[in-house]
Amino acid sequence: LFDRVELAPADPILGLTEAFVADPRPEKVNLGVGVYLDENGKLPLLDCVRDAESRLAADPKPKGYLGIDGSPAYRDAVRSLVFGDGADVLADGRVATVQTLGGTGALKVGADLLRQINPSATVLISNPSWENHRALFTRAGFRVDSYRYYEPALHGIDIDGMLADLRSADAGTVVVLHACCHNPTGYDLTPEQWDQVIETVRDRELMPFLDMAYQGFGFGIEEDGAVVARFIESGLEFFLSTSFSKSFSLYGERVGSLSVVSESADAARRVLSQLKICIRTNYSNPPTHGAALVTAVLTDGALRRGWEQELAAMRDRIKQLRRGLVGALEARGVTDMGFIAGQLGMFSYSGLTKQQMIALRTDYGIYGTDAGRMCVAALNTGNLGYVADAIAAVRSG
Ligand code: LMR
Repeated sequence: LFDRVELAPADPILGLTEAFVADPRPEKVNLGVGVYLDENGKLPLLDCVRDAESRLAADPKPKGYLGIDGSPAYRDAVRSLVFGDGADVLADGRVATVQTLGGTGALKVGADLLRQINPSATVLISNPSWENHRALFTRAGFRVDSYRYYEPALHGIDIDGMLADLRSADAGTVVVLHACCHNPTGYDLTPEQWDQVIETVRDRELMPFLDMAYQGFGFGIEEDGAVVARFIESGLEFFLSTSFSKSFSLYGERVGSLSVVSESADAARRVLSQLKICIRTNYSNPPTHGAALVTAVLTDGALRRGWEQELAAMRDRIKQLRRGLVGALEARGVTDMGFIAGQLGMFSYSGLTKQQMIALRTDYGIYGTDAGRMCVAALNTGNLGYVADAIAAVRSG
């Protein structure tokens, strides 16, 4: 049987980490995966997480199963964070929320549910989008197309193209939208453009699926989450996936959530019952530890303030790194990449070609995706000059 198994290509993002790990060159830099590293090039353990961890360790608990939909305290904490404390939509019982294995797990559980309730729907993702969106929805059984989004000539969004593509979509089409810090481009819709998208989604009866994996890395927790409130105000039904991988530096704990906002409490109850089947038949129920850490931080005043400060510090430092990279490139004669400073989130969509990205990898041990995405959040004062040298060299070569 296994004779017939084809060798699959490496994952376009996590495969880069595999290649990076195997690269013996000491000067190598991993700008592939979206992971924030500190000034020493190390993955930070946030102080708030360390404190929460100490508290949990001081009072160890038996490790029983969580419910299929996860920890109730965690779900409450997430719902307050993303919908607002005491939001009407929560009080009305219109939101079904489940704890998931990170943001990817949330997308997959959502995709599985959608496939069950609307199997013939097409899924539209932005062009370009996170590499795994297409793969994940395709694997869930959908036809995946894209809507126009990034316009290289503008170094920004082709909003007219995007709206036109949404307008020509069939009713029921699932539209995957990046709530903030668009991955990979770093260009987000303005509030007015969000209103236009919401209007179009409503007119065309599309099903929005908001993916919010980088809350707090754009302008702030509230500012980045404001789009959720816009969707609630619109009265639309929608899916929302969230992740604490980046905002809590809890990558390996796989802590995320999926919320489905319905038009009635009765619909939300039925949706939750189906979400539970999707989870039960995949991995039964989620793990305890990461969610306990996030709950401890979000529900304790001091830890929560500490988290907000640490998240702000990561955000501000990434902005500094962007400016630093632009300055270093300019000092090397590359004067047309100033747009990097204005992009949001962890990534820079550099405009470098696939060939140039491969040259960065092969000749310099600098890993970014073939599409030209580089994780600015993995730069530091020690590697920034080297990266700028290499970009200048591949640009001139
Ligand atoms: C990324 O885009 O690099 C991150 O979201 C990590 C991942 O799972 O791809």
